[in-house]
Amino acid sequence: MEVFRICGGPPLKGTVNISGSKNAALPEFAATLLSPETSTLKNVPDLSDVQFMAEILSELGAQVERIDRTTWKINPRNIAHRAPYELVRKMRASICLLGPLVGRLRMAEIPMPGGCVIGQRPIDLHIKALECLGATIELEKGIVKVNGQNLKGSKIFLGGRHGSTVTGTTNAIMAAVLAPGITKIESSACEPEIIDLCKMLIKMGAKINGTGSHILEIEGVSKLNGCTHEVMPDRIEAATYAIAAAITEGEIILNNARAEHLGSFINVMQESGVMIEALSSNQMRVGLNESELNSLEIITLPYPGFPTDLQAQSCALACKAKGISILTERVYPSRFMHVPELMRMGADIAMEGSSSVVKGKSKLTGAPVMASDLRASAALILAGLAAEGETWVQRIYHLDRGYDAFEKKLQALGGIVERIPESKLPKSFSTF
Ligand code: EPU
Repeated sequence: MEVFRICGGPPLKGTVNISGSKNAALPEFAATLLSPETSTLKNVPDLSDVQFMAEILSELGAQVERIDRTTWKINPRNIAHRAPYELVRKMRASICLLGPLVGRLRMAEIPMPGGCVIGQRPIDLHIKALECLGATIELEKGIVKVNGQNLKGSKIFLGGRHGSTVTGTTNAIMAAVLAPGITKIESSACEPEIIDLCKMLIKMGAKINGTGSHILEIEGVSKLNGCTHEVMPDRIEAATYAIAAAITEGEIILNNARAEHLGSFINVMQESGVMIEALSSNQMRVGLNESELNSLEIITLPYPGFPTDLQAQSCALACKAKGISILTERVYPSRFMHVPELMRMGADIAMEGSSSVVKGKSKLTGAPVMASDLRASAALILAGLAAEGETWVQRIYHLDRGYDAFEKKLQALGGIVERIPESKLPKSFSTF
């Protein structure tokens, strides 16, 4: 397995181009299945999750062609309704195929995704949404089998204990756009990735009102056409680089980064003394305002609240801030796998229920650490950039799922980061 070796120290400087959003691209690949016509997606990030999704669409029968690094063409004229377990089990997000398959084919069979390291991740709300639309659902031998022959518009309430559900909302929307009659989705998620998906669906001929709000009204149509759509920039990637600039006391420009998608993050950063500003609707600058970072107080919440996908990276930053920072998880209460690894690097963190309490200004020192999920990997790399000495991050396949060319972009900003294949690891290096 490949490992990242990071030498901490240099402040990051320069300009970085933010790629297309993973969490927009994945449901948008799925959305292409809603029409028998060909669709083209542009600004697609180069990620292993995107590769998995492309493979699943091919297995379903779609002709999937990568035109260049960021452009994919998908012809889904003849597709089957059964997604293969071997591919689906590699990526939880493949559950977002449920809505399009039920919408277009009126049936779907998708292996039930398991839990994952960031929490339980149930799909009860996805199932509730499809049942509200008239589908019948059985779980047989670990496969979710949906019969949508009687699909029709209806009222769906999508709120759950931790707020709404992002992928559940995409499934509800994608089934409803082809269900006869009017569907009203209440407590729908309103993440920018959902807005981007709705924009794409509207180009395909869907009738959706209320985009960006918690109440969506959808008038089902009998068929949709193909479209060309440019995936929105990745707000989580942009914010991760912003933290990289702050934690290394550098200054960077983020191209293709939309401040309008990062309101709560920008607010927290500014309060802790990070200089972060929009230079235009598509460009941001980040650096340190104060000589010292102030403590951070973060509560993760559904959009427009602080994103759970930035909690781990912010924890790394909190290690450098003065005073006590508190980071509370309200979306995935057990998403703290990065904490013990950061502590191996010298961080002083105590857990209190679903909060991490970080005593800042601890001296971070490089160490071999283990990535447990995508955002935890990013957090460890950020800590490594600010640590004294060498940090070795193992299991970086998690990182490749969601960060396009991470080491190359960091290198271009002056970070000392290299990807080392297992065969080249020094003998003294111990995996655990
Ligand atoms: N939930 C339920 N029942 C459901 C669905 C969700 O109780 O049927 C709960 C979850 O357990 C969680 C909360 O609702 O506590 C929110 O989960 P949600 O369904 O919104 O998450 P998701 O759609 O599975 C997406 C992103 C995640 C991101 C979350 C929250 C994609 C492909 N994934 O997941 O991204 O953390 O929304 O914003 O869009 C990541 O990129 O690292 C990542 C994990």
